[in-house]
Amino acid sequence: MNFIQLRSNGLCIENISAFRLTKKYRTPFYCYSLAQLRNNFLRFNNVFKNIKPIICFSVKSNSNLTLLRELRKIGSGADVVSIGELLKAIKAGIHSKKIVFSGVGKTEEEINKAIKKRILLINVESESEVILINKISKKLSKKTSIGIRFNPNISGNTHKKISTGNKGEKFGLLYSDCVNLCKKIQKMKNVKLEGLSVHIGSQITDIKPFKNMLSTLDKLIERLKINFKFIDLGGGMGISYSNKEKKLNLKKYSQLVEKFMKNKDAKIIFEPGRVIVGDAGVLISKILYIKESANKKFIILDAGMNDLMRPALYNAKHQIIPLKKTNKKFTGNIEFVGPVCESSDKFLNQKVFVKIKEGDYVSFTHVGAYGMSLSSNYNIRPTIAEVMVTGSNHKLIRKRQSLENLVKN
Ligand code: LLP
Repeated sequence: MNFIQLRSNGLCIENISAFRLTKKYRTPFYCYSLAQLRNNFLRFNNVFKNIKPIICFSVKSNSNLTLLRELRKIGSGADVVSIGELLKAIKAGIHSKKIVFSGVGKTEEEINKAIKKRILLINVESESEVILINKISKKLSKKTSIGIRFNPNISGNTHKKISTGNKGEKFGLLYSDCVNLCKKIQKMKNVKLEGLSVHIGSQITDIKPFKNMLSTLDKLIERLKINFKFIDLGGGMGISYSNKEKKLNLKKYSQLVEKFMKNKDAKIIFEPGRVIVGDAGVLISKILYIKESANKKFIILDAGMNDLMRPALYNAKHQIIPLKKTNKKFTGNIEFVGPVCESSDKFLNQKVFVKIKEGDYVSFTHVGAYGMSLSSNYNIRPTIAEVMVTGSNHKLIRKRQSLENLVKN
């Protein structure tokens, strides 16, 4: 189901025309479809219904409180990587027994909070971290549930910057380190080893890396002979950013996981981010100027790389579509750029685009995941507003940061 569509009257988010929203909210702003978000989560849940996983939405992909609350209402837990994300998940009403905490560099303050909140699992990534968790737990007279993050040395065949499962990466513990650490953990008094976790990267569209990941996990479990209560398979399921791109076949993945789970009585945890929220968000922006130079038509937008980092950071191509439909065409070298003072502040090159003029609006698609959450104040630009649409209603779910607040330090 597609709740964000280009219809005869232009781009619509559910029943609302995006153009109408530009009359109400100042551009640039992110806009989400609640129906799309819910649909994605429920579909994910349904595909994996036979294994009844705990779904811990990856808060780093989008940490808007309203959005987290909506996900909580339909059963989501949270995967967090900082005390800030942990506090937000709790504020959104997510039960602590549905929260997992990953990351290679958790601070003492973060570990303290996670222990006190009695979250489901702290997924540890080094021996030093376990020693610290054990020490703090002892001080607090607690026995803390932990998971161990395994690095299976598997490439996700994805962008280098979002690949985490290769042996040269900082994440998790390699096979023999994992085996050794598990033995040590079992002798510690204030931690209990309940989980085994793995996450090999993000935006993985090929099923093979997941297949390899599961068989490597099987080998490790066989060697360890530990009956893990939880097996956390992380996130990473890839989506298609345009009609031409393939996405991960979730059905096939679920069949692999079902096979993997035969003869095991552990509970599966998933930490999906992008597949839940990626296509539920758009970024609406206004054309400030059109400038012709060096045989190019620069379309200068009011959204910059600080608002949407993915193109500059990963060369990501987010489709840009006009809010109003028209048959008249622009041809030539068209480049969409932002106002930030960096030459990497460019979004997309096109050979053909509908005829647009200064003051018109466009929309970036598939920016619900790692759009707003990666944004920054670079060039002293305020973080922008977020709007949520449901049916024929819309509401502001994050105010644009005030200039006053921005310039105070
Ligand atoms: N679990 C762990 C331990 C992770 O590190 C991540 C993402 C996820 C789950 C969620 O992955 P997802 O299902 O969303 O692929 N900023 C990059 C993506 C970085 C992903 C970092 N870790 C981007 O914009 O593509």
